[in-house]
Amino acid sequence: DRGPGRATSPARPLVFAHRGSSAAEPEHTLAAYLRAIEEGADGVECDVRLTRDGQLVCVHDRRLERTSNGHGVVSTHTLAELDKLDFGSWHPGPGEDDDELIYDASGEGRGRILTLDRLLGAVHDANRPMRLLIETKHPTRYGAAVEELLVESLRRHGLHEPQGGRPVEVTVMSFSALAVRRTRRLAPQLPTVMLMDLLPAGLRSGRLPFGSRIGGPGVRLLRAHPEIAHRLHARGHQVYVWTVNESADLDYLIELGVEGVITDRPGFVRRRLDEL
Ligand code: G3P
Ligand code: CA
Repeated sequence: DRGPGRATSPARPLVFAHRGSSAAEPEHTLAAYLRAIEEGADGVECDVRLTRDGQLVCVHDRRLERTSNGHGVVSTHTLAELDKLDFGSWHPGPGEDDDELIYDASGEGRGRILTLDRLLGAVHDANRPMRLLIETKHPTRYGAAVEELLVESLRRHGLHEPQGGRPVEVTVMSFSALAVRRTRRLAPQLPTVMLMDLLPAGLRSGRLPFGSRIGGPGVRLLRAHPEIAHRLHARGHQVYVWTVNESADLDYLIELGVEGVITDRPGFVRRRLDEL
C-alpha cells in the first residue's frame, strides 16, 4: 500500500537540477542552469543568500573561496563587488564530493555571479513550464530579511502564488522551520519544502510543520529510514529527495514512489527515467 499521498502522484519523480547541472558546469552559474533546461530537467534548485546591500544572490557556501576567485563571507560584499569575481572557473573533480572541486582556468570570465532576478528571467525564458526550488540559507542571521526580500522579488515577477499552468512554478525550501513559517506568513499560497538532514522529531505523526506539503530528506537519511517516505505519504505529503546522483539510489527512490529527485546530473536522471 503506497498510502493516500500516492493516489494523484506521478509514477516517475520530477527531476530538479541541484545548483543547475552542477556536475557538468560550475554550480549556480547561468551556464549550469541553461544546461539543466537543455538536458530536460523539470525544474532547478538554487540557494539564496543576501549581499551587504540587500540583494539576493545564488550561492551555496557562506564564504566565497570554494566557488569563486574571491575571499571572505558573501554577505560582507556588495553585489557590485561580487560582480567583479569569477564564479565560472571551478569544476567538479572526478569524485562526488564538494571538496574535490578543481580549478580550471579555461572557464575564466564566463562565471558572473547569478542574482535571483537573473535566474528568474532564465527559467521564464525556457520556452516550456519550469519549476524553481529556492532554498533560503541563514535563517537567523538577518531576522526575516531573506524571506521578506525573496517574497518581494517573487511578487515583482508575479510568482508569489501557484501559477496554475503559467511558465514558472516556485517552491521555497529550508532546513529551518522558522524560515518555512516566515515564508508561509508572507506568502501563504506559496508551496514550501521542509528539508530534513536528521530524523525529524515529530515523524511519528507524519505531519510537516507550518503547512508544508512536501518533505525533503537527504537520500542517505531516507535509505536508512524509508519510513519517512511512508509516513509522509500516509499524510498526503509529497517527498523530494536530495542529492540523487547514482543509479542505485534513483532505482530505490522510484520503487519508494517519491515525487521529486534533486540531482547534480539532470541529463543522466532524465535519460534513465525515460528508459522506464
Ligand atoms: O535540495 C536540498 C539540498 O540542496 C540541501 O543541501 O547543502 O546542497 O543546500 P545543500
Ligand atoms: Ca540547496
